[in-house]
Amino acid sequence: MSEIVEKVEKLRQELHRHNHRYYVLDDPEISDAEYDRMMQELIALEKAHPELYSPDSPTQRVGSLPLDKFETVGHSIPMLSLDNGFQDEDILEFDRRIRKLLGTTDEISYTAEPKMDGLAVELVYENGRLALASTRGDGIRGEVITANIRTIGSVPLILHGQNIPPILEVRGEVFIGKEGFEKLNEQRSKEDQPLFANPRNAAAGSLRQLDSKITAKRPLEIFLYGIGRIEGVQLVSHSESLKFLQSLGFRINPLIRANITILQCLEYYRELSGKRHSLPYEIDGMVIKADSLEYQQRVGATSRSPRWAIAY
Ligand code: IVH
Repeated sequence: MSEIVEKVEKLRQELHRHNHRYYVLDDPEISDAEYDRMMQELIALEKAHPELYSPDSPTQRVGSLPLDKFETVGHSIPMLSLDNGFQDEDILEFDRRIRKLLGTTDEISYTAEPKMDGLAVELVYENGRLALASTRGDGIRGEVITANIRTIGSVPLILHGQNIPPILEVRGEVFIGKEGFEKLNEQRSKEDQPLFANPRNAAAGSLRQLDSKITAKRPLEIFLYGIGRIEGVQLVSHSESLKFLQSLGFRINPLIRANITILQCLEYYRELSGKRHSLPYEIDGMVIKADSLEYQQRVGATSRSPRWAIAY
């Protein structure tokens, strides 16, 4: 028996690792056929030994039983929205306001990130295992979509590394890329199903499926862009948080620029605008964030949005 437990454990570990290489690092080590062979072997073993069931098994990504309705859950820290800037002057004003609030004339270090046009979600990990996933909802409460989130290949079901916080709440954007969207609509057209208007609608429709087996067939992707609650690990900056998330196995947008000045943010905005149409996914601007977590705390937030971040 323990031989079987070991075999199952080994297959799960290997499949998690190959999954990460494929979906997060975009650098697969084995062929799809080899991956499928290992998956089939694990499915057969789990079927023969139902007592070894685990929600974290790579086999669980195919979806589970359909729900009647979504439960709701409160976010332990509200999920705020972002203030908007529409011209360079608004961004310079944002920087002046932060420095005024901090009482400093020093240059502030910022992070600039593509603003993904998808849906905000929160993933809660307890002792390194995905325990709960929810939509942003009204920012205070969201809908529980754990089964749907589990189907997304780039979402780790188990975190990597040694430095795993006992509680970790991460936030990010679920989206469908341009290519995935075209293929999905082609397929729907063949099946005489109504087409999705745009990738964002397709992602929203896929995430709000009561039947996670349907979600599993949709080309959903994720980029994580922040941490909510975290216990047991001390971080000093947003860019450090992103690196930490990456080390735990999360997918982070490689176009994020860290440690830049407000003027470099404006330059980067032009660069990003120039390549917007050649990106493999849709963005609706850029998000600029003051990097220091101490500064973020000191400038705080209004009831609607943080004062340390702005969407351009
Ligand atoms: S930070 C408190 N970073 O924009 C800071 N948001 O209007 C909140 N979004 O609901 C968000 N890409 O869905 C942040 N790199 C990014 C983002 C991003 C897209 C979305 C997010 C949020 C909305 C804010």
